[in-house]
Amino acid sequence: MPASAPQPDQTQQSEALDFLHLYHTETGRPGLRQRQAEVYRGRLTLSTEELTFGARVAWRNSTRCVGRLPWQTLRVNDLRHVTDHDEVFAYLLAHLRGALNGGRILPTMSVFGPGVRIHNDQLIRYAGYRQPDGTVIGDPQNTDLTDHLRRLGWAGGAGTLFDVLPLAIEAHGQVRLFELPADAAHEVHITHPDCPAIGKLGLRWHALPVISNLTLEVAGQSFQAAPFNGWYLQTEIAARNLSDEDRYDQLPAVAAALGLDTASRRSLWVDRALLELNVAVLHSFDQAGVRIADHHAVTRQFRHFEALEARAGRPVQGRWSWLIPPMAPATTPLWDRRYDECEVRPNFTLQPPAWRAARPGVCPFHP
Ligand code: ARG
Repeated sequence: MPASAPQPDQTQQSEALDFLHLYHTETGRPGLRQRQAEVYRGRLTLSTEELTFGARVAWRNSTRCVGRLPWQTLRVNDLRHVTDHDEVFAYLLAHLRGALNGGRILPTMSVFGPGVRIHNDQLIRYAGYRQPDGTVIGDPQNTDLTDHLRRLGWAGGAGTLFDVLPLAIEAHGQVRLFELPADAAHEVHITHPDCPAIGKLGLRWHALPVISNLTLEVAGQSFQAAPFNGWYLQTEIAARNLSDEDRYDQLPAVAAALGLDTASRRSLWVDRALLELNVAVLHSFDQAGVRIADHHAVTRQFRHFEALEARAGRPVQGRWSWLIPPMAPATTPLWDRRYDECEVRPNFTLQPPAWRAARPGVCPFHP
């Protein structure tokens, strides 16, 4: 990013000063005064080290993330000089391959230059094709994105339940589409350790969650194109993406595969199917050698994160409803905890979808 605007507004300026203070205090680096003077002169360009620190602290401050313990391990690719479509795409492929790291996933962020924006909310997403009868083939969460990509000229995919969408990369005020090669969108086929019928359902999920619709806010500067990934927690895939009735809605199929009687919910067939689908996702990722967390381990790690933060004299903010898992939450050590929901910077902010921002007068977050 080039120097921020010549006359940064008050908030930007105080955020820049606060950030430099935080950076120099936590890292013990000298030179705070000189850096602050640059803020007053209206031209603060973050060093790669400052940007990296800012991105890590943005993760540390993410109230909705239960996986914050390894925040200091985030790798940051400083690509603020990259502003062309083809180059952005090449670096995104490198990000996907490097972050997968043969399954030993590395939390990674790539920060691109001004004017770059990725319209997809994650780098890997499955198409949701609206059918004339109102049903959806694929992931119903992605119908708007799929429609948007079609309007941008995408011909559509094979029409399976799991068609990987192309990327819409905006740069220099122009949007272009890029298809992901199969090896960049690594997927895991879902099988169950002792129920082969679950494996025959043809379910799968991608290995990497790479969030691409959050703006990184550091030192009063906004980085719109800063996609980042960690690794999945099995409940995200098994207890939400594949289970929610308005997503893949697979619990009835899983129950049938298990031979459960689904006449009455009182038999708890829903819960039994949910449990076995979670077992299947963990088993499949483990078999494929792709790192994945489980809700028991990650919540214990979160308590450890809290203890380390307390030792460092820092308060931990969190949104309890996001931190507890959507399955057996009361069996985890977060159940009886309460958190301060305050948002502090550096942090991430949600971008309105590109297709809504383009329509003036329409609230970007509520269609
Ligand atoms: N819940 C989102 C999904 O299922 C991913 C959010 C980020 N998750 C993560 N483990 N870093 O795709």
